[in-house]
Amino acid sequence: SIHVASVTAPVNIATLKYWGKRDKQLNLPTNSSISVTLSQDDLRALTSVAASPTFTADRLWLNGKEEATVSNERTQACLSELRKLRQELEGKDTKLPKLSQWNLHIVSENNFPTAAGLASSAAGFAALVAAIAKLYKLEQSMSDLSRIARQGSGSACRSLFGGFVAWEMGEKQDGSDSQAVQVSTLDQWPNMKAAILVVSQAKKDTSSTTGMQLTVKTSDLFKERVAHVVPKRFIEMKGAINAKDFEKFAELTMKDSNSFHATCLDSFPPIFYMNDTSKKIIKLCHLINEFYKETIVAYTFDAGPNAVLYYLEENEGKLFAFVYHLFNKVEGWEKKYSQDQLNQFS
Ligand code: DP6
Repeated sequence: SIHVASVTAPVNIATLKYWGKRDKQLNLPTNSSISVTLSQDDLRALTSVAASPTFTADRLWLNGKEEATVSNERTQACLSELRKLRQELEGKDTKLPKLSQWNLHIVSENNFPTAAGLASSAAGFAALVAAIAKLYKLEQSMSDLSRIARQGSGSACRSLFGGFVAWEMGEKQDGSDSQAVQVSTLDQWPNMKAAILVVSQAKKDTSSTTGMQLTVKTSDLFKERVAHVVPKRFIEMKGAINAKDFEKFAELTMKDSNSFHATCLDSFPPIFYMNDTSKKIIKLCHLINEFYKETIVAYTFDAGPNAVLYYLEENEGKLFAFVYHLFNKVEGWEKKYSQDQLNQFS
């Protein structure tokens, strides 16, 4: 007999960054974070799992290739927690097939490049946990499952919810209060849109895990960020989302991206995730907001050079007029702007 289940989990992009662990084993963060989960039909992981008594080992295929990662600590942490929950169900209802004792075959596919700073691990672990929970018919809530996904990859806990999501850092040593909760559904702010400017498809050179460990160990600025900057911003950003205050949301998002990258630069040796094109995009966004005398765009960068822009749907034309002009070098585009504005790019 064989049992199967499939789910998709979208990518989430943090607007208030998770950067730093207080417990590496359990993936417990040094600060709370907030993100926006993209819609299901954009960037996502699609994961199918099968359990059968005939399988001789747990196996995992990622984008068509078998991976050794099924035996890594993080994946095993997720699998064993899920198996424990299934075992409890089997204990309560002895007629249930003993899926907890069978090996799993897991097949996962991303519709975007892996490890290009596009949060593939987040969607991947969220889909893995959700698919197995579905296969096992677990009754746990999404927040309960988020504590399991967190152990795969911290940011994964946020991909189990749609819309605007907070990962509450929690205080307990066992991680039982470090979980994701939904701040607001996307329906409550339906004109919010995200665009990804792919600056490079190359694999990032310092993984998030390694990078944040170094920052925690060596950056003084990081201590200030965690103690005094993020706690206030966490409350303010939730407020801006609930009030649909784009200007405030945008300001906090841009400042937090800059603050996170500043702690990377303050690490020793320093970590550089943004390149010259990334910096050009930052300048461009500020120029656009100044030009329209209104905040119409916010940028944010994760552990890589690619930009994610947040904007309201009604401003899409206004925003991309600039983006296309600058990056496609449409002839004569510079005639539209004053010398002062153009000088900011030199
Ligand atoms: C910059 O969740 O990939 O994207 O927990 O070690 O797997 P691990 O790290 P990961 O880090 C994400 C870092 C970030 C910010 C964010 O998504 O909040």
